[in-house]
Amino acid sequence: MKKNNNKKTTNTKVKVNPCSNDRYYMDQSIDEEVYIKNNYKVVRELGRGGYGVVYKAVGLNQGQIDKNKKYAIKVNFSTVSPELIFAEIGFLKLIYGKENMPQLVNLFLIDQKIYIVIEYFTYKPFITFFATFDMMEIRRYLYELLKALNVLKQNGIYHRDVKPGNFLYNPKAGKGILIDYGLSEIDRSFVAKLIEKEKELSKKHPQSDEVQEIRRKINLYNEIQKTIDQIGNNKIGTESFMPLESILHYQDQSYEVDMWAVGVIFLQFLTKKYNLFSNVRMINKPVVNKNFFYVNFILELASLFGSEQVKQICEQFEYDLKLPSVVATKPVQWKSIIHIDGFDNDAEDLLSRLLCLNPKQRIKVEDGLTHPFFKPLLEQEKQTQTNFQDNQEIMQQKLQEN
Ligand SMILES: Nc1ncnc2c1ncn2[C@@H]1O[C@H](COP(=O)(O)OP(=O)(O)O)[C@@H](O)[C@H]1O
Ligand SMILES: [Mg+2]
Repeated sequence: MKKNNNKKTTNTKVKVNPCSNDRYYMDQSIDEEVYIKNNYKVVRELGRGGYGVVYKAVGLNQGQIDKNKKYAIKVNFSTVSPELIFAEIGFLKLIYGKENMPQLVNLFLIDQKIYIVIEYFTYKPFITFFATFDMMEIRRYLYELLKALNVLKQNGIYHRDVKPGNFLYNPKAGKGILIDYGLSEIDRSFVAKLIEKEKELSKKHPQSDEVQEIRRKINLYNEIQKTIDQIGNNKIGTESFMPLESILHYQDQSYEVDMWAVGVIFLQFLTKKYNLFSNVRMINKPVVNKNFFYVNFILELASLFGSEQVKQICEQFEYDLKLPSVVATKPVQWKSIIHIDGFDNDAEDLLSRLLCLNPKQRIKVEDGLTHPFFKPLLEQEKQTQTNFQDNQEIMQQKLQEN
């Protein structure tokens, strides 16, 4: 339903006809007065990427705005392959109801475009707070992010585009959600185990609720995998948050790629610098024996980790690295370049385990969550909990006395 406001101002949005060779044409402008399906009213645009637009919307209850109901509505450009959107919807279904995850509310199709309605999450852009955070605030942020990655791992998903823009964080509440599953992948061994489990359980109770639920999940995983296979592996994420194995198209990539990205975010906090590794560019197909594409990144890595280690790791990734001998460098001690208060041995240890070139030795999410770096945060939270309980008891006592 579109309100006819008959205003012929210069602001009138023009609908441009689809043009097949231009991915970025502007056919998505929703007039602010547009009501979607009588249930949502668009308030403003939140973001615009290569694949579509995200709008902020409020809920409508019998025509009245319900300010308590806020949504983010993701709409694809009609030139974008529907498979990309189907995969993302599948992931949103898999993580539905889980903590630190975006919550899918509704889906519909208008004019060949898919509208994904997600609960709105109140957050602050990373750029506005990251350089002001003290070590305890950094801990809380990273812990929330690791919790999100742990939920994904427990569901056999790795994200592949972890970066501040995809982790919406509310500093006041100390809460965050990991969004944007457009590049995510499924761990096939996880699904294989689920299939085994289904076989095992269905021997005894073939129609039990648990078995039905597992079957439903397996179908969903298979549907997502099918769509991902159709898209092929020509998608790339955000280079500056990618580990070397991704840049070099190493076959064996999994959950570890997300942990490297957490390391880059940690380093952003610690150095108060936003544009780390920002010169890294990759190409979306593997190219044998040509290192000039990656020379920026490799030199940057060599300056941090030492050329010997970088050489070794490139060999492991079957990448023929021809570093000129002049770039022979020694590894840098993190403590010599990071001077923020509270950067103690635990912080340094976690950082070096996240930014570990060898994916097999990189820290796993479950070990990250139990790393001693987070101990002060967990103790603080425990104390807050105890204080809260004490206060509750005092209140109860006072009520009884009166
Ligand atoms: N649930 C949400 N709550 C609030 N804002 C959101 C939500 N989901 C997306 N956004 C906003 O939309 C932007 C783009 O969303 P994202 O899913 O990352 O799309 P893209 O694939 O275009 O990067 C985000 O950076 C954020 O500003
Ligand atoms: Mg995004």
